[in-house]
Amino acid sequence: MKVKIVTLLIIGFLNALLFQEITLASEKNKNQELIRRGEYLVSYGGCNDCHTPKLSTPKGPEPDPNKLLSGHPSTAILPEIPPGIIGPEKWGALTNNDLTLWVGPWGVSFAANLTPDKRTGLGSWTEEMFIKTMRTGKHLGVGREILPPMPWFSLAALTDKDLKAIFAYLKSIKPIENAVPQPIPPQKQ
Ligand code: HEC
Repeated sequence: MKVKIVTLLIIGFLNALLFQEITLASEKNKNQELIRRGEYLVSYGGCNDCHTPKLSTPKGPEPDPNKLLSGHPSTAILPEIPPGIIGPEKWGALTNNDLTLWVGPWGVSFAANLTPDKRTGLGSWTEEMFIKTMRTGKHLGVGREILPPMPWFSLAALTDKDLKAIFAYLKSIKPIENAVPQPIPPQKQ
């Protein structure tokens, strides 16, 4: 009788262990799936076009795989902006060789660091903050308006699940320390 109970207890314990292993493995798989979906959406959404510094190639600028999504390089110099170049009958916008800096009627905007670096990237953002920012077009959902040409309104059209996938992917990439400058208002251009 005693032996039977002990055997049952052992089987029960092993079963519980196995169940825990399976649950952990399926959680991991689910997260991997979410990250893969996020990578797919980031690629299709063209985030690299503006958020990744470029390598200059004979075919034109291409994203630098070592600086993936790290934003406008803090060490880059701001080329001189010819006065009076932007206007209704003039040019609509200017950009730099990295396509990470944009000049327009809104002033100068610099593409943000989207890597999980804690101080200079999205490392301290929560999933909720990311979703709120994309839904409202305001920094963290409550701060200043996000400037062009960031297409936040295109991201606002996505489901929560897809925004979570994008955020999971951004959290999974290599953190890169790069403090992107604050935007410059139009009058100081
Ligand atoms: C056409 C250029 C462009 C594209 C494409 C683009 N962004 Fe941006 N993004 C910017 C610029 C410029 C800023 C900085 C705007 C500002 O300072 O207000 C920015 C800012 C952000 C921010 C920071 C917002 C904040 O409140 O600090 C996040 C997050 C972001 N982009 C995510 C993305 C994601 C994800 C994609 C791809 C789906 C993407 N961006 C595509 C140009 C772009």
